[in-house]
Amino acid sequence: MKLLCFPIFIFFFSRFQLTCSSSPFYSSHDATLCPGDQKLALLQFKNTFSTSQILYEDCNEEHKVPYPKTDSWKEDVDCCLWDGVTCEDGTGNLIGLDLSCSWLYGSIHSNSSLFNLSHFQRLNLAYNNFRESEISPKFGRFSNLTHLNLSTSSFLGNMPLDLSHLTKLVSLDLSRNYGLGLNTSVYKAFARNLTQLRELSLYFHLDLRENFGLTCSLPKSNRTTSLKYLDLSICQFTGLLPMSMGNLTQITQINIQSNNFSGKIPASILNLAKLEYLILEENDFRGQIPDAFENLSQLIYVSLGRNRLIGQLPSSIFNLTQLSKIDFSFNQLSGPFPEYASGLSKLDLTNNKLQGPIPRFIFQLENLASLMLSSDSLSGVVEIGMFSKLKNMQSLELSGNGLLSLNTSNHFNFTLPSVTYLNLSFYNIQEFPPVLKAFANIERLDLSNNKIHGLVPHWFYEIGKESLEYLILSNNYLTKIHQFPWERIGHLDFHGNLLEGKLPIPPFHATFFCVSRNKLTGEVPSSICHLEQLQVLDLSYNNLSGKIPNCLGDFSYDLSILNLRMNRFEGSIPKSFQTILRSLNLNGNQFEGSLPMSLLNCSMLEVLNVGDNKLHGRFPYWFV
Ligand SMILES: *[C@@H]1O[C@H](CO)[C@@H](O)[C@H](O)[C@H]1NC(C)=O
Ligand SMILES: *[C@@H]1O[C@H](CO)[C@@H](O)[C@H](O)[C@H]1NC(C)=O
Ligand SMILES: *[C@@H]1O[C@H](CO)[C@@H](O)[C@H](O)[C@H]1NC(C)=O
Ligand SMILES: *[C@@H]1O[C@H](CO)[C@@H](O)[C@H](O)[C@H]1NC(C)=O
Ligand SMILES: *[C@@H]1O[C@H](CO)[C@@H](O)[C@H](O)[C@H]1NC(C)=O
Ligand SMILES: *[C@@H]1O[C@H](CO)[C@@H](O)[C@H](O)[C@H]1NC(C)=O
Ligand SMILES: *[C@@H]1O[C@H](CO)[C@@H](O)[C@H](O)[C@H]1NC(C)=O
Ligand SMILES: *[C@@H]1O[C@H](CO)[C@@H](O)[C@H](O)[C@H]1NC(C)=O
Ligand SMILES: *[C@@H]1O[C@H](CO)[C@@H](O)[C@H](O)[C@H]1NC(C)=O
Ligand SMILES: *[C@@H]1O[C@H](CO)[C@@H](O)[C@H](O)[C@H]1NC(C)=O
Ligand SMILES: *[C@@H]1O[C@H](CO)[C@@H](O)[C@H](O)[C@H]1NC(C)=O
Ligand SMILES: *[C@@H]1O[C@H](CO)[C@@H](O)[C@H](O)[C@H]1NC(C)=O
Repeated sequence: MKLLCFPIFIFFFSRFQLTCSSSPFYSSHDATLCPGDQKLALLQFKNTFSTSQILYEDCNEEHKVPYPKTDSWKEDVDCCLWDGVTCEDGTGNLIGLDLSCSWLYGSIHSNSSLFNLSHFQRLNLAYNNFRESEISPKFGRFSNLTHLNLSTSSFLGNMPLDLSHLTKLVSLDLSRNYGLGLNTSVYKAFARNLTQLRELSLYFHLDLRENFGLTCSLPKSNRTTSLKYLDLSICQFTGLLPMSMGNLTQITQINIQSNNFSGKIPASILNLAKLEYLILEENDFRGQIPDAFENLSQLIYVSLGRNRLIGQLPSSIFNLTQLSKIDFSFNQLSGPFPEYASGLSKLDLTNNKLQGPIPRFIFQLENLASLMLSSDSLSGVVEIGMFSKLKNMQSLELSGNGLLSLNTSNHFNFTLPSVTYLNLSFYNIQEFPPVLKAFANIERLDLSNNKIHGLVPHWFYEIGKESLEYLILSNNYLTKIHQFPWERIGHLDFHGNLLEGKLPIPPFHATFFCVSRNKLTGEVPSSICHLEQLQVLDLSYNNLSGKIPNCLGDFSYDLSILNLRMNRFEGSIPKSFQTILRSLNLNGNQFEGSLPMSLLNCSMLEVLNVGDNKLHGRFPYWFV
């Protein structure tokens, strides 16, 4: 089956105007003219590329539409005035080149004239497509280079040892070159030689084809004590975090998320007094979180989520006055909450084993915007009214705490206008809690997997009338939904209820509509084809019957999943398919005739299930 393969990190955005009003930035270089040989080398460099509209999401700043900076490179203009070029006052030597986000498409070979330009101090080639070139060892010749940025540019292969000659480097960004590998000996040479490095970003080096034997070989000497920023996220590091981390006394940001570091979180980290961001999430850390955070007085954000940490929440962390965000989700932390905290704006303790009631201090946290306490073992009664003092509260998740009950009293005298997300799934709720009326501006509401039964009450249709976008009521015992009055609703999930009668049709801007596993009957009205933005339509496992509208194959170009499985549909399959369909499931109906050739237009199709129908002919030969 044919699949279109785009490099995953490239985004084609039609909503961006590609007619770029390129108003290149001219810096004032008084009398300096750039030396002719350097100009020539730049022009030759330019000519090794074509420019194609490669749009990276990160390049699309509102005020800065990306465009090929080399467009302004004209032979009759002083190259010091060219876009992206910086010359040295006096000599005119080229000392800076910023061609980031410039749509360059082509390879950089070792014979490139770029390497004739020896004076560079800053070189930024990020966000281009160098077509899986290797990083030439000649990059090691820019001996005065302080900043090198080759992020997100489709470089491939092993990082050359020669980069370790760049002893003046302050900032090195090689992030997001998916096929780039860094082996231990090269890494060690970096650590030995690049003593000035303040910023190192290797984020997203992935090479799954070869194991380059990466190990965490952070420097064991004191040479790199001046490192301020370390980003080794998604690098496939394994093993223990070395005690020598404690030598990084100037460090302000540590991000090693999504590796496979194991063992305990070393206590030496807790001496790094300048640390502001500590992101260790998605590793294999075990044991208890050391309760000795008192020296990290600058800490703003700590994420230890998705590890295997046990024991109690460290109360010392809750006392840090600068700390704003805590994410300890998806661990096995247990016990009660600490009794005190201040200043928090985000607290995510989802999926642990925390016990006891939600502590009082939570309701005093004026800045709290996001509280995620789903899937713990909390108990007690939640008076939603207690949240009414939290004027900044936006997201509230309390789902899946078996012993935590919601006060469903009809009498309340507050509103929670700032809350836009409420998740009360897996909560044992028997009926729509009247307190929902307090959430006047709710955008996303999840009440799935409860025991809500019967009709949807009329007052519920008034909630979030102008704001609700996301409504999940799946796996309840609802029998009837009358209307979809919400102006902005896009995502509607009602699967696994007892809905009867005709298929209700959501408003035209819906993108997701799932009523699978209900008891709906009757035909699918052709008005469903007004849903031109629909991406997912799942009507499976109902009692729907009759012919399906002919327009169902091409009413929404964005349709990616169409599931009609296990109904009583009959007649022929629509003739015209023109969508980005990935999955088409018609199994278990009474469709007749043959598969339409137009399915060939659906080049993304991965799943096609037409079994158990009355179709004739063999599985079509053209479909492989
Ligand atoms: C670059 O340097 C090489 C060898 O050093 C030389 O042959 C070539 O002509 C130079 N190219 C430019 C454009 O100066
Ligand atoms: C540079 O090297 C590449 C690859 O070896 C080759 O295809 C290209 O022709 C060379 N360019 C020049 C100007 O020599
Ligand atoms: C590197 O910088 C030093 C000191 O500023 C200077 O003397 C030298 O000429 C520079 N080298 C190059 C190749 O630009
Ligand atoms: C590491 O990479 C360098 C540079 O690409 C290469 O010369 C060296 O042989 C590699 N070493 C190992 C052990 O793979
Ligand atoms: C470290 O830098 C020096 C000076 O540039 C260089 O001679 C040496 O080979 C480098 N060491 C490594 C391991 O690359
Ligand atoms: C590298 O360049 C890109 C694009 O200009 C930028 O977003 C990124 O922050 C740069 N990296 C560093 C470390 O400055
Ligand atoms: C490394 O630490 C030792 C002992 O603290 C000190 O004498 C030496 O100067 C340091 N070296 C550097 C390069 O900072
Ligand atoms: C760096 O860390 C190692 C291991 O913890 C330690 O032995 C060494 O003394 C530390 N060096 C400095 C300068 O703190
Ligand atoms: C992570 O490392 C552990 C051993 O510490 C190993 O058992 C596990 O398979 C590794 N996981 C991945 C995803 O590499
Ligand atoms: C905090 O800093 C003080 C003073 O430097 C030191 O004595 C103490 O051991 C540190 N505590 C932790 C937990 O590192
Ligand atoms: C945290 O601060 C509170 C109030 O200032 C204080 O009572 C408590 O002892 C502190 N806890 C820790 C672990 O420092
Ligand atoms: C709301 O009701 C609670 C008790 O139910 C009461 O303590 C509180 O003062 C009331 N608030 C307002 C603003 O009326």
